[in-house]
Amino acid sequence: MDKLLIEGGARLVGETNISGAKNAALPILCAALLSAEPVTFTNVPQLKDVATLLALLGQMGVAIEREGDTVTLDASALTEPVAPYEMVKTMRASILVLGPLAARCGEARVSLPGGCAIGARPVDQHIKGLQAMGAEVAVEHGYVHVRASRLKGARLVADMVTVTGTENLMMAATLADGVTIIENAAREPEVVDLANCLIAMGAKISGAGSDIIHIEGVPRLHGARHHVMPDRIETGTYLCAAAATGGDIRLTGVLASSLDAVIDKLIEAGCTVHAEPDAIRLCAPPKLTAASLRTAPYPAFPTDMQAQFMALNCIAQGTAVIRETIFENRFMHAVELQRLGADIRIDGNTAIVCGIERLQGATVMATDLRASASLVIAGLVAEGKTLIERIYHLDRGYERLEEKLAALGANVRRIK
Ligand code: EPZ
Repeated sequence: MDKLLIEGGARLVGETNISGAKNAALPILCAALLSAEPVTFTNVPQLKDVATLLALLGQMGVAIEREGDTVTLDASALTEPVAPYEMVKTMRASILVLGPLAARCGEARVSLPGGCAIGARPVDQHIKGLQAMGAEVAVEHGYVHVRASRLKGARLVADMVTVTGTENLMMAATLADGVTIIENAAREPEVVDLANCLIAMGAKISGAGSDIIHIEGVPRLHGARHHVMPDRIETGTYLCAAAATGGDIRLTGVLASSLDAVIDKLIEAGCTVHAEPDAIRLCAPPKLTAASLRTAPYPAFPTDMQAQFMALNCIAQGTAVIRETIFENRFMHAVELQRLGADIRIDGNTAIVCGIERLQGATVMATDLRASASLVIAGLVAEGKTLIERIYHLDRGYERLEEKLAALGANVRRIK
């Protein structure tokens, strides 16, 4: 397994480009299942999770052509509306094929994703919504089995805000007979990006980005081209790395308006942030000020940025209180940060982080995607060497991470 070796102490300075958003690309690739005509997506990031999903779609009978960041998918000859366990277990977001397959084929068998390091990750809302649209859903032998002659429009109220739940049901509703209203819908920018892609394919959707989405079903969707939005979590991760290292960086190809809550926190921590429509510049102070935060659904502070911000608070002036309200077990990075000398106390879903002068390099282990990013940030500022093991987690969500960091002046290299 690959490892990342980081020599701490370098300031991040310079400019780098942000890739397409993983969490927009994954549902958008699944949207290809809804049409019998080819669709082409650009700015698709070259990530492990994207490769896994393309392999899954390929084995369903989708013809796939990939040229760098451009992917063309042709789902005219779907043969196998099944997502098997061995593929789903490596990438939970495979559940996003459920809605499109139910709508397009009237049948689907998708392995239950199962939990992951950060929580149980149930999909009851996805199932409840499809049942409300008239589907017969059975959960047996670890698979969700959906059957529906034709889905019917319905009024759906989510028990809690769910990003992929909203996306799955929105996709299913595009081909349903009648109007579907999704209430308590997720407002994440990735939901809006998916809606824009579906609209380009002929779907009739309004309200995406608000908590009530209105979808009028149509008989079929046609081909289209869509450019995937920039990755706001990758953007936030580099901003946190620059902030922690006292750096001065400019990120291009970004969507600054999708990161207001994170930018506000970075300013509260003492950074100067200058946002342009498609670029962001951050200048860090010599010493950061601790900034408390509470994760919540968009537009509040994103849970996917919590671990990165905890690393930043480890070496800030003062004490920060971090509350994680989305996932039940998303502090796995804390014990690894403690190995680097961080002063963190966990009390249920609250972490108290007392800033210290300097972290010490050590060997640490990545447990999930964003926790890994948090350890990278800590390694960049720790004294001496930090060796991060199991960095396959990083490769799932960050494109060419060590190259981009090295180009910004970090002393980092991958050890095969
Ligand atoms: C999406 O996961 C993202 N993944 C996650 O990013 C992100 O952390 C999460 O949204 C929250 O923003 C993708 O978009 C591919 P949820 P998702 O359904 O949709 C509970 C990353 O690092 N819930 O919004 O799976 C759930 O347990 C990943 O890129 C139910 O109880 O998250 C959680 O507590 C990690 N029943 C809360 O809702 C359901 O049916 C929010 O989960 C669905 C969700």
